[in-house]
Order: sequence, then C-alpha cells, then structure tokens
Amino acid sequence: MTYYTHLGQIPHKRHTQFRQPDGTLYHEELIGNQGFAGNHSLVYHLRPPTEIAQVNVIGVTRLTYEESEALRPRHFRTAEAGGDANCQVDAIASRIPLLSNADVTLAIAHPNKPMTYWYRFAHGDELLFIHQGKGRLESQLGELHYRSGDYLMIPAGILWRLIPERGVAQIHLSLEASGHIRTPQQYLSPQGQFLEQAPYCERDIRPPERLLTHDEIGVFEVRVKARGSLTQYCYTHHPLDVVGWDGSVWPYAFNIKDFEPITGRVHQPPSVHQTFAGPNFVVCSFVPRLFDYHPQGIPAPYNHANVDSDEVIYYVEGHFMSRKGIERGSITFHPSGLSHGPHPGTYEASIGKSRTEELAVMIDTFRPLRVTTQASAIEDVDYVYSWLPLKSRKLTLQ
Ligand SMILES: [Fe+2]
Repeated sequence: MTYYTHLGQIPHKRHTQFRQPDGTLYHEELIGNQGFAGNHSLVYHLRPPTEIAQVNVIGVTRLTYEESEALRPRHFRTAEAGGDANCQVDAIASRIPLLSNADVTLAIAHPNKPMTYWYRFAHGDELLFIHQGKGRLESQLGELHYRSGDYLMIPAGILWRLIPERGVAQIHLSLEASGHIRTPQQYLSPQGQFLEQAPYCERDIRPPERLLTHDEIGVFEVRVKARGSLTQYCYTHHPLDVVGWDGSVWPYAFNIKDFEPITGRVHQPPSVHQTFAGPNFVVCSFVPRLFDYHPQGIPAPYNHANVDSDEVIYYVEGHFMSRKGIERGSITFHPSGLSHGPHPGTYEASIGKSRTEELAVMIDTFRPLRVTTQASAIEDVDYVYSWLPLKSRKLTLQ
C-alpha cells in the first residue's frame, strides 16, 4: 500500500512499553515487505503470534497442466467451471486454477460457504476480483465489507478469511502473486501520494473498517500455502487478537466502477487502463467510457503483436466491442508470439459509436503462462479460427 493509516490503540512511540489493563505487555509484530527495507505495518497483539501448538501438512498444491499444445489464441468459458452447486466450498477450496507461471496464478472460484479457518499465502499478495457477490473479509487488521466489482487486495503475511453473505451467489477471479502487487508507479509522486492524473486516488480505496479483537483461548486453525504445500497450524488462542496497528501494509477494497477512464481523440493504448502492477504482470480495468472523438477516429483497437507479454482478458459485463462469441465470465488468452486484434466486422462497426458499456479485467504477464487441465476442459476450441471471414474455417495446407 502507498499511504499510512491506523486503527485501534497504538503506543505513542514504536518499540516501547505498551501495556494491557492487567499490566502485561502487548505483543508487537512488524509485518513488512522486502525485509525491513519496504512498506510495513506495526501490529499489537494480546498474545504472541508465534505460539504454534500443532503442525500438519494437509497436502501438496502442485498444478496439473495440459500436454504440449499448439500455441494459439484460447477462449475459456469459466461459467462452465462452477462445479456442483450442492457442494459446499469456501473461497480457497473452490478455486479452479486456469493459467499460471512463476509470477502469478489465475483461478476462478464460486464459493458458497464461509472459510472456517484463517489463511495466508506466504509468497506474495493476493488480488481478488469480486465479479459477483457480497460479504466480509476478516483479517488481523480488521473487517472489510466487499461487494460486486471490488478488487480486494490482501498483502502477504496477513491472516484472513472470507465470509460470503448467505444466499448471495459469488464469482471471484483470484490472482495469487509471487511478490507484491502495487499501485503503478506512474500514478504516484516520489513521496507516494496519488497524482492528479491518476485514474483513482486515496479516496477510492477502502481500508479495514473496524478491528476484530478476540480475547479467546481454544484451538484455532490457520492454513499457510507455501513452497508447494498447504500446511495446517493449530494455535491455542484466537489469531485475530489485535488491539491496534498502524502503517502502510493493509488489505483494502477498490471498486472497478471507481476507476476513472482516460479517453482521447484517438484510440488510447491499454496502458491507460492500468490499475495494478505485480511482479512481471500488470492488471488493467476496461470500464464504461466515452469513445474517441476525432472525426475520423476508429474506437476499436488496431491489430497488435504481444511481443513481450501474454494477454488475458476476463469479461465481466456488457458487450465487448472488439470480440464476438464472448460471454459473461469468458477468459480470452492471447499468448506472445502471435498477433491479435478485433474480430471481423467489429473494426468498421465501431466507427461512429459514442460510448461503450464494456467491463473487463485484463492481466498481461511478461513471462509465458501455462494452461491447466481444468482450463482445457472448458475451452471453446473453435476460437482460434474465429478471425476467418468465412464460415468454412479449417483449411488443409498444401
Ligand atoms: Fe490486446
């Protein structure tokens, strides 16, 4: 995170005596990035966060990938990856991994029950896009209500769980990053304040609303995903026992509808839609906006080659101007090594249109993504041929 805030009680001076009503000390913990050289928060617990009573490996978290496949544009219909609606699954267990590399794993999830344990991904930040749903994120730094269209940024090192609102259907897109997901540097002053030209600013970011301080003894389960395994830790006190914290590392919500689009007289490149910067990837938000206003302008994008990146677009709502055959929850995947562009007819058809209602999230990765077996199972296999102008699609090469 880029700005400082605080919640609850904290001592005037860091690393000094801060006592509970019974005279014992609170237990200070620093949660920081890049060792002690990055952003951090100081957290004050009722009890030490280090008291592990039992540890068990739950299982390995290795992904399974499709066998070597021809490099091609891909289309995955994630609405078909919902699983059994009668099966009760939480926000972690319901994740279906679709695309992955060493920097990021993308998954779709349709959770329908609360997590009964607290969770931490040890290697980096997590970004959830709440396509549909409503509920609460509980974390050591407090409670945060989420709603449809929210990005939920959860920093590494913080224990959390998700409590979906009962009876409200949920669709989440999750990005698990091997590193930190930040505000793009070009939006910030050297001191870290959002600049005037940034498409969103501090006022659009929702920090935790109130602390959840549990003074409880018992058996409490924490699951940590790290180094290819999921491990269960049992603690003898409630992990959400924080009485106060301050700093610049905290979970937050940012709603995609608060992203103010940057438009121009001619077509603007996707970089104006950038919302987050991850390790070797970017996240962009395509939101309803006015189209280009040059009298000869063409609103649809020109063809382009992803020389240095794989492009993934998750389609949220509305009609996407440049693509046909796309549905709500579709993911298109255009790998580096191939050119891509608007579908036949859409380039010409976009001329004269004044606005678009499209809502989509794009993830561009700078290292190649691999396709999981779960993604292969929901693929629209004809997508690769959908740029041919005629219905007779597959040709025999001479
Ligand atoms: Fe593109």
